[in-house]
Amino acid sequence: MKKSVIVLGSTGSVGRQVLEVIQKEKNYFNVVGLTARGNFELLQKQIDAFLPQAVALVDKRKAKKLDTAGKRIRIYEGEEGVTEIARSLPTDMVFSCIVGKAALIPTLEAIKAGRDVALANKESMVIAGDILKKEAKKRGVSLIPVDSEEVAIFQCLKDNSINSVRRIYLTASGGPLYKWKGDFSEITPQQALSHPRWRMGQKISLDSATLANKALEVIETSHFFDIEAEKIKVLIHPQAIVHSLVEFVDGSILGQLGITDMRLPIHYALNYPYRRESYLPFLPLTQLEKIGFESPDFQKFPALRLGYEAGGKGGTLPAVFSAANEVAGEAFLKRAITFDRIPYFIEEVMKKHKIIYNPSLEEILNTDEWARRETYKLMRDL
Ligand SMILES: NC(=O)c1ccc[n+]([C@@H]2O[C@H](COP(=O)([O-])OP(=O)(O)OC[C@H]3O[C@@H](n4cnc5c(N)ncnc54)[C@H](OP(=O)(O)O)[C@@H]3O)[C@@H](O)[C@H]2O)c1
Repeated sequence: MKKSVIVLGSTGSVGRQVLEVIQKEKNYFNVVGLTARGNFELLQKQIDAFLPQAVALVDKRKAKKLDTAGKRIRIYEGEEGVTEIARSLPTDMVFSCIVGKAALIPTLEAIKAGRDVALANKESMVIAGDILKKEAKKRGVSLIPVDSEEVAIFQCLKDNSINSVRRIYLTASGGPLYKWKGDFSEITPQQALSHPRWRMGQKISLDSATLANKALEVIETSHFFDIEAEKIKVLIHPQAIVHSLVEFVDGSILGQLGITDMRLPIHYALNYPYRRESYLPFLPLTQLEKIGFESPDFQKFPALRLGYEAGGKGGTLPAVFSAANEVAGEAFLKRAITFDRIPYFIEEVMKKHKIIYNPSLEEILNTDEWARRETYKLMRDL
């Protein structure tokens, strides 16, 4: 029988690749639900190609334009429509590919409804990891990572207790600006978005340039695998072939290597817990350029230091880091602030925050709103 799948954020970079893998492996998978924010044209094409049972578009005006004539497809509108699909449409698996904090509620509702979740979105794990994991455990739901680094660690840890881990090495390509020698205030959005290795959505591309993406992954890893942030070490690995490594207490190191292509972790997550042959290219080991690792430059990329601080202190601080980063990042892309100001604003808002430990969902959501307001206020005052 085919595995049924809902793709939340189907019009994004990851969402589109999930649908591509499903299309190629259509004997095994069946798309039952799709959601997007505003990209009505692409969602329409996906509806015509996959004939899901239900779709949701956040933009209510555009949702009215979707053409499902002659097809038995339910249309939902608004953010509540996205959550409704995640919660109520019967399915074997929900792929969470929405960007930013907007993924949190639909992902949580999917878990509460007992659906297995493949988690590409990292911000929800960063800001509410304890809550997501607790709900998943309570309902016997599998949470499968999709972020390439997390999938690597997930595979290395299989059949190994987290207590036998000495350290996790989280690899980072370094993004487009790692070797940048000039003034960081002069970097343009175009320069910051030109990632040398991965083709991704705007937010994660910018986060890769500031290394906020790696900071988010330190926190994500810490939640996913129940390990302290201080045991996670970031390594700059420009070739992006080794997707992460786990060092055990006996000195053995396991790593996962693979092509630099999100379709590989997507294929893994879709097929989990089985490992099925894929149509993707294999890694040409004998043709690889030299593989290297180096320590990151925390001074040049303060967002990484701030991510460690947020992950180390925990409570509501990761939600503050994530929200301030989202707001400052968007402001930079609109050219309202300079590149070097992104970590500056994150740090200033973090300094003002009084951490709540073991926060409820409501406290996390209130903190997120507070941090967004504070970031806007600081940007206005400057
Ligand atoms: N891209 C990668 O290779 C990659 C790799 C690892 C992890 N991730 C993580 O995966 C997530 C998605 O990244 P991405 O690069 O695919 O992002 P993206 O290309 O910007 O796509 C985001 C998706 O979310 C939808 N969306 C945006 N805001 C929404 C909202 N408020 N409510 C509901 N849906 C909303 C978008 O719809 P519209 O298109 O209609 O705007 C789109 O379908 C991020 O958390 C990222 O960190 C991405």
